[in-house]
Amino acid sequence: MFSARKKALGEAVADMCHHQQGSHGWFAFHECLGEVAASREAAGLDRLLASLWRSRPHISDAHTITLLGIAVRHHLLEHSGPGDVFDPRLPLSRRTSALTDLLERRGDVIARHMESYSNSYTGARRFLLPQLVIGAFADRFAVPGVRLLDLGTSIGLLPRQLNNEAVFRRFAPDLRWHPAAPPYRSIPLEFVCGVDRPPLPTLDWVRTCHGPSDYYEQRFEEVLWSLEQSERAGRDVRLRPLDLLDSPGLAAFLTDHRVNVVTCNFVLYQYGEDVRRELVRTVTGALDAPGLLLLMDPSHALARQGCAVHAYQDGSTEALHIADVSDAHFMGDVTVHPDMGVVAGPEAYR
Ligand SMILES: C[S@@+](CC[C@H](N)C(=O)[O-])C[C@H]1O[C@@H](n2cnc3c(N)ncnc32)[C@H](O)[C@@H]1O
Repeated sequence: MFSARKKALGEAVADMCHHQQGSHGWFAFHECLGEVAASREAAGLDRLLASLWRSRPHISDAHTITLLGIAVRHHLLEHSGPGDVFDPRLPLSRRTSALTDLLERRGDVIARHMESYSNSYTGARRFLLPQLVIGAFADRFAVPGVRLLDLGTSIGLLPRQLNNEAVFRRFAPDLRWHPAAPPYRSIPLEFVCGVDRPPLPTLDWVRTCHGPSDYYEQRFEEVLWSLEQSERAGRDVRLRPLDLLDSPGLAAFLTDHRVNVVTCNFVLYQYGEDVRRELVRTVTGALDAPGLLLLMDPSHALARQGCAVHAYQDGSTEALHIADVSDAHFMGDVTVHPDMGVVAGPEAYR
């Protein structure tokens, strides 16, 4: 069981090494992790994985790999600086032995961190699509008040950004829609809340979740700028700890707050298909009508660039594949699919 799972993890790392965005910061780490995973001298990694998989049995390979990189980075930043394992200028053999040694000596500390925290990377441009789709949905179904919950919200960026036209105007021009974007509409927001797994991620943790590169520095600047803009706009956003694996707790939260729109972006790839099915069942069964669940997830478990966008209506677990985005950081192209018309009205897909 352990060796089959570890073999699958090794294959997932190899796949991620070919990711077009690997050069943006995590490639050097993924490359040496692949070597450690394939080696016979990986007792530190084996102990770490055994402990992680016991405490988080549902964690996906893509999440294990990205979270391990973040936890190692966090550990090194706290103790000794950036570290060899992230330096692409060093030979692979040197990076690999640095990682083997670190996992041997400090694997237990790194494992504990991975058991408590998740990859909480958040993207400042991701709200562009929900802004337009939820606006069109509210208009199409004449929803007088949108009561929105953002699941796996990280630091609550999307709930703060919605309806902030200044932030929308800055980022929207870098996203091209085919055949066309729904028009910008202000969403009639009545209640906005974000939840994440306890302990709630901090801004510092989110900074560590950004890869060590200029590219990710720029993305983090966009996060900081967005937070500053929404502070100016005085947006009142509630952030609460809630574990989405707790289906009864999630259903109760939705009904107690009469939530009619749920967004869940870049969260479910951290789990297997069974968790996704259960979440869709729980949310669509508890949404106020007319209700919408919007899911955005990386294409192919982080092995390729891009993301897929699915929508569900209250009471139905049938996935509507409404769009694909060429880049999970939302710079590039959105391809709108016919199902968009079901959610956003026939004029949204012509
Ligand atoms: C990669 S971040 C995405 C953040 C944000 N939605 C975005 O797209 O920018 C995934 C978030 O999901 C959260 N998450 C993972 N598992 C969760 C769970 N069981 N319950 C609640 N939140 C969870 C993580 O803690 C993390 O902050």
